[in-house]
Amino acid sequence: MSAAIPPRGGGVRPERLGGSPQREPVPLQLGARLDESVQLYRPGAPTAYAEDVERRLTADAATLIARYPQARSALLPLLHLVQAEDGYITPAGIEFCAGALDLTAAEVTAVATFYTTYRRSPTGDYLVGVCTNTLCAVLGGDAILDALCDHLGVAPGGTTPDGKVTVDRVECNAACDYAPVVMVNWEFFDQQTPAGARDIVDALSEGRPPAPTRGAPLCSFRQTARLLAGFTDDRAGAVSASGVGGEPTLAGLRMYAEQQVGPDADGEARE
Ligand code: FES
Repeated sequence: MSAAIPPRGGGVRPERLGGSPQREPVPLQLGARLDESVQLYRPGAPTAYAEDVERRLTADAATLIARYPQARSALLPLLHLVQAEDGYITPAGIEFCAGALDLTAAEVTAVATFYTTYRRSPTGDYLVGVCTNTLCAVLGGDAILDALCDHLGVAPGGTTPDGKVTVDRVECNAACDYAPVVMVNWEFFDQQTPAGARDIVDALSEGRPPAPTRGAPLCSFRQTARLLAGFTDDRAGAVSASGVGGEPTLAGLRMYAEQQVGPDADGEARE
């Protein structure tokens, strides 16, 4: 539902302020305005899949749904599946998930718009996510984001004209011990600087994806979405490349152990 937003202070006539609180109805706008970039339904977005695509997705969806006691529990993987198809969540993807899981399109949309992992606009081959949450921000996350946007000539959330790189801000990559952190297709590039991040996007633009600080080698955004849906990463060495916690991560664990609180390393209560 959409309605005009009243001017600031609308709803209470100024002459009534301080007087008897006779309030007028305040028309509220629910959801994003049509001109906001977070709209899920975009002009030109596919609203249905071709028959062969539908058949292929249906077979993949059946594999995913079979892993859960209740079909609707497979919604998150299915959203990754359709994101792998389109590069973002489209009306076609929403309808597909709804049909496969016997949900309404509204229910699927509610979930898809809750998680920022599901993109609402076309995404480049490489999604570069710059953390600007508290710790990364104070250590330079905002400067990195500004530098990348300037360098690529895009605003946060934008994609380069060649479709290679999308740059966006993200909220906490869950790697605060390596702040400031940049992720490319959800793989970590730790302790970044503006210059280092520029080198990363240059390499991505030139088709030379750099190795992440830890974890599996990069693949395209759509391939990543398919892995997140739950399909096997059969690239040689990808799974074993997961890595281990490094020094900044282990420092906290060591402090915890030194203070001898809680259970010991074997899970036993301390004397
Ligand atoms: S604040 Fe940036 S990874 Fe947590």
